[in-house]
Amino acid sequence: MCGIIGIIGDKPVTQRLLGGLKRLEYRGYDSAGIAVIETDATGAKLSRRRAEGKIHNLEERLKQSPVDGILGIAHTRWATHGQANETNAHPHFAGRVAVVHNGIIENFMALRAELQEKREFVTQTDTEVVAHLIDDAMKSGLSAQEAFTKTLKRLEGAFAICVIIDGIDEHLFVARRGSPLAIGIGEGENFVGSDAIALNTLSNDIIYLEEGDWAVLKTDNIQIFNADDKPVTRETVRVSGSMAAAEKGNYRHFMLKEINEQAETVSHTLTHYVDAFHMRVKSPEQLQVPELDFSAVQRLSLMACGTAFYAASVAKYWFEQLAKLPVDLDIASELRYRQPVLAKDTLALAVSQSGETADTLAALRHCQKLGLKTAALINVSTSTMARIVDFSLPLNAGPEIGVASTKAFTSQLTALLALAISAGVQRGHISPKAEHELVTALTQVPRQITQALALEPQIEELALELSKSRNAFYLGRGVHYPLAMEGALKLKEISYIQAEGYAAGELKHGPIALIEEGIPVIGIAPLDALFDKTISNLEEVATRGAKILLITDAQGAKKAENLKGERLICPPTHLHTAPIIYAIPIQLLAYHTAIHLGTDVDQPRNLAKSVTVE
Ligand code: F6R
Repeated sequence: MCGIIGIIGDKPVTQRLLGGLKRLEYRGYDSAGIAVIETDATGAKLSRRRAEGKIHNLEERLKQSPVDGILGIAHTRWATHGQANETNAHPHFAGRVAVVHNGIIENFMALRAELQEKREFVTQTDTEVVAHLIDDAMKSGLSAQEAFTKTLKRLEGAFAICVIIDGIDEHLFVARRGSPLAIGIGEGENFVGSDAIALNTLSNDIIYLEEGDWAVLKTDNIQIFNADDKPVTRETVRVSGSMAAAEKGNYRHFMLKEINEQAETVSHTLTHYVDAFHMRVKSPEQLQVPELDFSAVQRLSLMACGTAFYAASVAKYWFEQLAKLPVDLDIASELRYRQPVLAKDTLALAVSQSGETADTLAALRHCQKLGLKTAALINVSTSTMARIVDFSLPLNAGPEIGVASTKAFTSQLTALLALAISAGVQRGHISPKAEHELVTALTQVPRQITQALALEPQIEELALELSKSRNAFYLGRGVHYPLAMEGALKLKEISYIQAEGYAAGELKHGPIALIEEGIPVIGIAPLDALFDKTISNLEEVATRGAKILLITDAQGAKKAENLKGERLICPPTHLHTAPIIYAIPIQLLAYHTAIHLGTDVDQPRNLAKSVTVE
């Protein structure tokens, strides 16, 4: 999660770009840079200053070697591809083009290979290829705008981009796919930033670009186009000076904002755990936990509460299948009372968004008393759990405000899958080829999340039906069984519908007695080895009058065409990453059901964001 800001105007931009970067520093701070079109007696030219480390270092660099202009872009980086050094810091230049970028260009290696013969690459970043593609297209005779749009069509992944071009000081090009971008409207100047916080003090009139949009900013006008290059008008929202309001952007609730942020938050988590340049998981040294050695561990004890417990439950499958590491799984509030037999070569791993949940803390402390090494996967890096464990593993999903956990869940899954791959590599069960394939699948997740988010209008309609029921079932098998429980939990906590998540094969052992005419049953079943079995279980309830909603992929929908009921079609995914992507429709379904019912989505009754009592 990097931060971007750009200004096109009639006044010097450098100090204001720096101010924006400081407000964006929470998004990443391992290097920063600024590029402007500098005008002096000799004419206009593209100049940049970059520095490793925090924004403060860039500020010092600018004091020693000032640069200014009336058009500029700036970036604060959280490294994804390539080390955090000055060479890899944005903006990246190629010929006349300067680019800042947030997100991941998935196909950058293929694009780079294509250009390698005629272009010199000086960084290890995925971003540099964007600058080369635009410059190359301009050299072949296209206008700057044509070169920009042609390049956008070649890029795969989830990203936000800003571009300025030497010799063209009246245009700032921007595009959004997967990562957010907000335009600020000024007088005689216009702005762009990763969010409204970046634009605070510059503009209160904000246009949030929609998925696939791109735009050309001039000093006196803004032209926005959709993914099909058709001119579009997007609503202007007036934000108050208050950060909290700005943070919610033009979303009605924090929960909806957090659901929509997930392509980006998952990218941020991925950045920490995988080296997307070499398509490998990062080593314990790179993760700054050099002593975390899964090959020395005989057993893993996973503990967590609520949504984090369901993430841990999915991870049990991954650690056992990919790393052949036996896993104990406990609801944290039960662990110490169960008095588990835990040998010293067991690693205790807690999963928690807040890092403050009393039950999870107590379970961890119990394991410490038994002499085990402890680790915690947490979102709040300053939390108690982070301080007391041997290995603190960050989620980097950013603050989660909505009480119902959404983006922390997908980041937990992402980090846990990366750790399971790591364990598989360390324990000799994953070959370099298999590691490459799994990490490639992980880097595709942000884009697939963006595709799954596009199901929202259809989900809104389906949710209207669901909101008329007092009960519902979620069914799944394998890794989709915990996901079924998470789907049911989301429905319960924000829509107050009594929902149960079941292993699809277990229903016939009792709960099927509850199936009656019209009861909603939601099946989670991508086309995998367990697909046919889940469909048979859904047939069993369909014949008893249940209303089926099948969440699957296109191939699954085709194979199950005889099953009565509705479909939600997710993008095709890798077998192991599927639960991360299938989390999106279940979150949106709960959200829109709650909206139809008029409940308080961000602060549902009886709940608290962090449960610090036993
Ligand atoms: C559900 C939810 C809760 C939390 C649980 C654990 O949407 O948010 O079930 O997941 O209270 O909280 P953390 O992860 O902070 O330990």
